[in-house]
Amino acid sequence: MSYRQHPVIADRPVRIALIGAGWIGTFHAESVARRIPNARLEAIADPAMPAVEALASRLGVAKISADPADVINDPDVDAVLIAAPARFHSGLIAAAARAGKDVFCEKPGGRTVEELDEAMAAAEAAGVIVQFGFNRRYAADFAAARKLIDDGVVGTPQLLRSLTRDPGTASGIANPERIPPNTIFLETLIHDFDTLNWLNPGAIPVRVHAVADALVAPEAKAGGLLDTAVVTVTYSNGAIAVAEANFNALYGYDVRGEVFGSAGMVTAGGLRASSATSYTAAGTGSSTVRLNVDLFHDAYTEEVGRFADAVSARREGVQAMGIPGPGWADARNALAVALAAARSAGTGLPVDVASIAALRAAEPDLRSVGEHA
Ligand SMILES: NC(=O)c1ccc[n+]([C@@H]2O[C@H](COP(=O)([O-])OP(=O)(O)OC[C@H]3O[C@@H](n4cnc5c(N)ncnc54)[C@H](O)[C@@H]3O)[C@@H](O)[C@H]2O)c1
Repeated sequence: MSYRQHPVIADRPVRIALIGAGWIGTFHAESVARRIPNARLEAIADPAMPAVEALASRLGVAKISADPADVINDPDVDAVLIAAPARFHSGLIAAAARAGKDVFCEKPGGRTVEELDEAMAAAEAAGVIVQFGFNRRYAADFAAARKLIDDGVVGTPQLLRSLTRDPGTASGIANPERIPPNTIFLETLIHDFDTLNWLNPGAIPVRVHAVADALVAPEAKAGGLLDTAVVTVTYSNGAIAVAEANFNALYGYDVRGEVFGSAGMVTAGGLRASSATSYTAAGTGSSTVRLNVDLFHDAYTEEVGRFADAVSARREGVQAMGIPGPGWADARNALAVALAAARSAGTGLPVDVASIAALRAAEPDLRSVGEHA
């Protein structure tokens, strides 16, 4: 899948301000400044000013600030892209919405369902677009898997699987004591929970059971680190899903998904960097993808490109082309599963998702009937 320019808005780019210019924010900034033709990087806000200055000068951005309020209230900014740490997300969504800005926000939308709901109520009241950064939906292989599911290839889903193994090194996790508790559920596995929800269309997650430990950095367990987890999720249509994560895969960044059902199976993902394979006396070999920004380079670009399309189309008063991005219900459903998993890992007991929040069905995904069919 490659980013395609919306025809209507070629000469009126969406002016986007970045809030949070760290690892993923820098990638998104480069997408907006260089890879997305109908978007422009108008401003950057991040309290870490030296890094912001360097990024701004590299990308030719004139406006920088240590305070997100400056870019949120800038009349030349149409939309904000939030890539600050998770604890700021819901507050920034609400502030941006109140200023009438459309929002792209990295996951998770909040740390609790209540704070996410409050932010999204502000967004609804303001009538702004809010899209969340569930980038796997935009990866070509995952999108193709969803299309096959919509086409009936799997039949009735019975088993689903999604895994994330973050790339690691022989020396293990850097500064494990700085990783906030439950990061594995709220920031890593939340991708898998969204993927599972999305690959099981029409069903909602009902019950969650998690087992987790600090197997990579056991010395950090007392401080709350969990670096390895397996979560089962039971769905309203009876399907049973398994999500698993580990923070230290020595062989690369490993993201895979699978849906098995009454008529067959679809799979997506894999970490081979290319199909080139060596055959030697030692056996066969191939190189692997090491970074998220390599594995999901196109998906990260596509999701922000689609957001710019949606903002732009609405401003021009035309129907947005293609699919709606993941929104409130998607962010909420994935967050509720993540919170249920964190609670279950703490107690050892299964958790009903309804005890976290009453879930609503996600927006229908138009992928199978739109231009991407
Ligand atoms: N979709 C994905 O695959 C993906 C990948 C990586 C990170 N993320 C998410 O993106 C977010 C950021 O992660 P990261 O890895 O880039 O973190 P990071 O620590 O590299 O960057 C965070 C940046 O935010 C800045 N910051 C701190 N407080 C701020 C505030 N109040 N306002 C604005 N900026 C502030 C920091 O100075 C830093 O530059 C997290 O929510 C994370 O879960 C998503």
